[in-house]
Amino acid sequence: MTRIFSGIQPSGKPTIGNYIGAMKQWVELQEDSPDSQLIFSIVNLHAITVRQDPDQLQERTFDMIAWLLALGIDPDQGNAKIMVQSTVPAHSELAWILDNYTTIGELNRMTQFKDKTAGQKPEGLLVGLYNYPVLMAADILLYNTDIVPVGDDQIQHIELTRDIASRFNNLYKEVFVIPKGQIVQTGSRIMNLQDPSKKMSKSSDNHLSYILLEDPPEQVNKKIKKAVTDQYNQVVYHPATQPAISNLINIYRGFNGDLSIEAIQKRYSGLGYGQFKQDLAELVADTLADLQTRYRSFREDQAMLGRVVAEGKEHCQQLADQKLDQVKQLIGLI
Ligand code: TYM
Repeated sequence: MTRIFSGIQPSGKPTIGNYIGAMKQWVELQEDSPDSQLIFSIVNLHAITVRQDPDQLQERTFDMIAWLLALGIDPDQGNAKIMVQSTVPAHSELAWILDNYTTIGELNRMTQFKDKTAGQKPEGLLVGLYNYPVLMAADILLYNTDIVPVGDDQIQHIELTRDIASRFNNLYKEVFVIPKGQIVQTGSRIMNLQDPSKKMSKSSDNHLSYILLEDPPEQVNKKIKKAVTDQYNQVVYHPATQPAISNLINIYRGFNGDLSIEAIQKRYSGLGYGQFKQDLAELVADTLADLQTRYRSFREDQAMLGRVVAEGKEHCQQLADQKLDQVKQLIGLI
């Protein structure tokens, strides 16, 4: 049996980058691998590495669960569970243990930390933000995870997880499964619509740079119309020389997986950016409108959301505690 684990922070509203790079994969994996066990975590302990408004953090945790349900993750069907990270204390406890098997040199190499803290004085940076990849390693290793479906920006953290796990296994015995990261073929890094050299991110200050899953059709239209393009006015996929249009093609594919890149290029050959953008906006807006309807009905049902949290906790606590006990025993903790 294959175990699949992944997570998303409730620190903002989900974007189409989260959707194409990660969440869509999760639903496909749930459907395509009925023999696998899948766990999707709302990683609220990761979210507090940046200061959060407490009420908003709680609301966004439930929002994120409702989005996963709207996308088609179905905890009632059996093989997939949704869990909230803070409800299972073993995540924090294993993270502390793993801190003692991780070096400062390793954490210093994490590009996401470097990007997030660029230009700031080290003295004022929070330890939690620095330490964040170790908590992620704990999340993954607690569940004997084989596969971690993520966007490209998380691959380095998964490499670190593999190193920490191997180090621990070599020192004691094979207690941790060595996980593999898995990214989608195209769209594993959806870029900022205003600057295709940067990743699309829900924490960006420029709202034109990202599309949220909750954006209404007018916003989707506006953001796609205003998205920067390259200078050639040709719908050609070449990320190195035409990054802006290539990013829009990745978004198109993310919303219509039936069309290959070649088929998209062929369809728009000689039509220029205008027609392509118009069709893309319609495709994205229509898909999101359907999702939003489903989202709203799940979001209104607070009792059901509470039940998802409780069941996820019960399922995961058992598995996680077992692994934590093994680890504690191995290193002499009573
Ligand atoms: P987070 O919340 O930043 O993002 C959730 C998932 O969305 C992917 N993603 C993207 N994919 C493509 N293009 C983009 N522009 C884009 N932006 C985000 C991310 O790669 C991710 O897969 N540290 C993680 C959460 C986490 C986790 C884990 C993941 C905590 N523990 C254990 C896997 C396993 C994070 O901050 O993701």
